[in-house]
Amino acid sequence: MCGIVGYLGKANAATVLINGLKRLEYRGYDSAGLALLDNDEILVSKSAGKVASLNERAHTNWSPEVFKRSGTGIAHTRWATHGPPTEINAHPHLDQSGDIALVHNGIIENYRALRTRLESRGHHFYSETDTEVLCHLIGDCDKGDLFQAVCDALHQVEGTFGIAVISSREPGRIITARRGSPIVIGIGDGEVILASDASAILAHTQRVIYLDDNDIATLTLDGVDIRDLNNVPVTREIAELGLDAAAAEKGGFEHFMLKEIHEQPEALANAIRGRLDLHLGSSVLAGMSTSQRELAELVRVVMVGCGTSLHAAMVGEYAFEDIADINAEVQQAAEFRYRNPIMGSRDFVVAISQSGETADTLAAVKEAHQKGAFVMSLVNVVGSTIARETGRGVYLHAGPEISVASTKAFTCQVSVLLMMALKLGRGRRFSREEGLKLAHDIGSIPLLVERVIAKEHIIAKIAEDYVDNEHAFFIGRGPMYPVALEGALKLKEISYIHAEGYHAAELKHGPIALLQPGTPVIAVACEGPAKDKTLGNVEECRARGARILGIVTEGDTDAEEVMDDYISIPRTHPLVATVPAVVALQIFSYHVARLRGCEIDQPRNLAKSVTVE
Ligand code: F6R
Repeated sequence: MCGIVGYLGKANAATVLINGLKRLEYRGYDSAGLALLDNDEILVSKSAGKVASLNERAHTNWSPEVFKRSGTGIAHTRWATHGPPTEINAHPHLDQSGDIALVHNGIIENYRALRTRLESRGHHFYSETDTEVLCHLIGDCDKGDLFQAVCDALHQVEGTFGIAVISSREPGRIITARRGSPIVIGIGDGEVILASDASAILAHTQRVIYLDDNDIATLTLDGVDIRDLNNVPVTREIAELGLDAAAAEKGGFEHFMLKEIHEQPEALANAIRGRLDLHLGSSVLAGMSTSQRELAELVRVVMVGCGTSLHAAMVGEYAFEDIADINAEVQQAAEFRYRNPIMGSRDFVVAISQSGETADTLAAVKEAHQKGAFVMSLVNVVGSTIARETGRGVYLHAGPEISVASTKAFTCQVSVLLMMALKLGRGRRFSREEGLKLAHDIGSIPLLVERVIAKEHIIAKIAEDYVDNEHAFFIGRGPMYPVALEGALKLKEISYIHAEGYHAAELKHGPIALLQPGTPVIAVACEGPAKDKTLGNVEECRARGARILGIVTEGDTDAEEVMDDYISIPRTHPLVATVPAVVALQIFSYHVARLRGCEIDQPRNLAKSVTVE
């Protein structure tokens, strides 16, 4: 959620840090700050708002000489958890002496007790943050060895952290540690750069080390020394990022969201490539590899995720039941471990997450492991915590998703879930012929999506008529129900129109009371077993004067006729159709938000990866 960067090297640290923060801004963006080691002093600049205002503030506060000579610093972009997003609450925070600076992602759960104890020892606090308390605690523990002080402080902390610490008493080093909040260390040529997300490191190096929970590392120009919190050395391998720096640029598009919508044919091709077996009518998913017997013995699939990933899971639920003939259910990751789920070794738990860092999903994975379930992940970010925690899974290969509103991750998640269902189905009741047909349809997803994207100008024109509404309903049935939920989520998060997704049949059980002449109802009514019933529900809305925008199958005149406006998607298998249908809704939401002048890539109050529960 928040973003951390730390730098030690020959370059001008302030500029490196600000550029790094810009890369991380999508993770949280309500305030930002940076601390530099300048001669034997710590200098801090902070600002409420975006990294651009921090940049201005730093240039006002510091002379060009300071920029030139300082090669060590830490920086942070914040998504407020404790205390409003003011300058004073922004990180870095200083300890009582002003010699130690700290940036922190996560939550120190016992910060009140620690603060009371430190106050009784004479500490004074200027902010409302848990982070300032941690910084004071480190200062309190510091008896001349910063590394040991950080270890001692972290032993007293309950909660989660990804931190970077510098001290003017020990220039030339940065201490960094993690528990539940990611830290990646990039090893460059004569420089070391750490961050909470590899996108801040890309411009410097491809060689990285991922810290594990309870690792604490000392970064100097001589190298990286990693230990556990008891000061015992641990070995972590150097990995290659394998990411292209250009992938994290807008590439001529007005917004990352639009770029990512347009990237979907390629992202989907990457997610599907080499994974369909067009001879056996099955799929080849190395991450799901276990004996066919073991797979056949599984009695239930339980998918966990949050937000958009939860909606993908809901499409997966239909797919597993229809294709694989296996009980499937979806659980909100945030609920999973608090409801004592009944499960064992014959349950197949699939954790779905773009970032691979969502705290609730990670907690669900740990709970499922604890209960002995067969757990795997479906994650986009390679090397992320959930991917490593599950140890078994299928990567999406969607490429970096920078826009806060998820697009290409969703469509790749659904495509991979379809392939997983196909693999499981072929071991159960799905025949080779059925498998071949579905494999062919899944293989055509990139093309189907390309055809929807080609209609962007039509969709943008339709969007003009929906800009001035403050409420909208999205309805669907069967696998199009989660598509409706996802459409509503996309519209509300980027345009701030109050949008509600409902099962089409549920509308008449209450929400229909809100329909007035002209209220938009977006009906996902593509061909499939539930289409006629959905059209019946559309008629109910029309009878109340609602304005209906339909997502329909190309050439389906029955559906077209009951809609005021419609966007048609290519004909395909009803489960596969969820992907082009959602792409139509992504484009619609994008253009409504653009016409409303919204900050599409960074909607208010949101952050890209939610690493707090
Ligand atoms: C909405 C969106 C969020 C995420 C959710 C889970 O557009 O992006 O709802 O889907 O925060 O994130 P991941 O998939 O990273 O676990």
